[in-house]
Amino acid sequence: MAAEFAFKAVDWREGKVVLLDQTRLPAEEVYLEIADWREVGEAIKAMRVRGAPAIGIAAAYGVALAALARDPWREVEDACRELATARPTAVNLAWAVERMRGVAESAPLEELASALLAEADRIAAEQDAADRAIGELGAELLAEGSRVLTHCNAGGLATYSYGTALGVIKSAFGKGKIAHVWVDETRPLLQGSRLTAWELAREGIPISLICDNMAGHLMSRGEVDAVVTGADRVATNGDSANKIGTYTLAVLAARHAVPFYIAAPLSTLDPAAPDGSSIPIEEREETEVTTLAGTPIAPRGVRARNFAFDVTPGELITAIITEKGVARPPCRETLLKLLS
Ligand code: MRU
Repeated sequence: MAAEFAFKAVDWREGKVVLLDQTRLPAEEVYLEIADWREVGEAIKAMRVRGAPAIGIAAAYGVALAALARDPWREVEDACRELATARPTAVNLAWAVERMRGVAESAPLEELASALLAEADRIAAEQDAADRAIGELGAELLAEGSRVLTHCNAGGLATYSYGTALGVIKSAFGKGKIAHVWVDETRPLLQGSRLTAWELAREGIPISLICDNMAGHLMSRGEVDAVVTGADRVATNGDSANKIGTYTLAVLAARHAVPFYIAAPLSTLDPAAPDGSSIPIEEREETEVTTLAGTPIAPRGVRARNFAFDVTPGELITAIITEKGVARPPCRETLLKLLS
């Protein structure tokens, strides 16, 4: 059955990449039409499109755009090199570009553009299917009447259409299993309040927004039954990089015996990373911490650190939910089997 799309974070229309500009949500739903792959790179860096699978898909369409240029071989090569490194932590980005490079290397010139577009479409369609499978498998793990806490945005905005962690929540809600969702606002860029709240509210799912530092208090009151988040890169031992603050949640969840789930497609598993120490952690501009929506919230000149991600050790994760099955710690054997 064809999937229904409430929206697409990334699309291709008449020779252009179309991105839902996530920096403008929730105030405005603005779609950018991009005709130059370099602008796709800028949009990834500026987080107009964000979330591990979504930046991979955007980059894949960016490479397809490059094939429409006057010197397609050179442009495709440049696009692959530049787009693969636009952000460092999400492995889906390099993974998607590597797939595009493989197609480019074997396509004859007259078929280059159509072959690359077909591959980008395939990556997007596979992500949609993976999200829905993750949603089904994850929903089975949640008990009736669950109050679930999620962090950042691992929804359709972050993947393509449906979402991983939010796919689990949407799917469980469809089965009547969700009583409430606690949405971490997710400082500094507020992906929880701006994006997750937008995405879940339009599905009619009951949510409450909380500041990131409220999660422990809620857990201590027994008001959280499960935590579900996404991931940007999963090492083969199960250590998982995700939005800064995820590790803190996992420690709190362990303290309060709350199950902690990571929902991620197998394209987020990095076979070259044996453990979390080999995952590069992006550090972003200090101004993202010292300002809020452009307004200073710290004295002028105050320094800040802005780690975009942290790593949750595999042993703190109750299960990693992939499209092919669920891995529980110790994860390595199962994850490698699922990947093969
Ligand atoms: O910096 P972001 O907004 O790109 O970070 C996104 C996340 O941390 C998501 O949880 C992750 O990419 C999983 S998306 C399905």
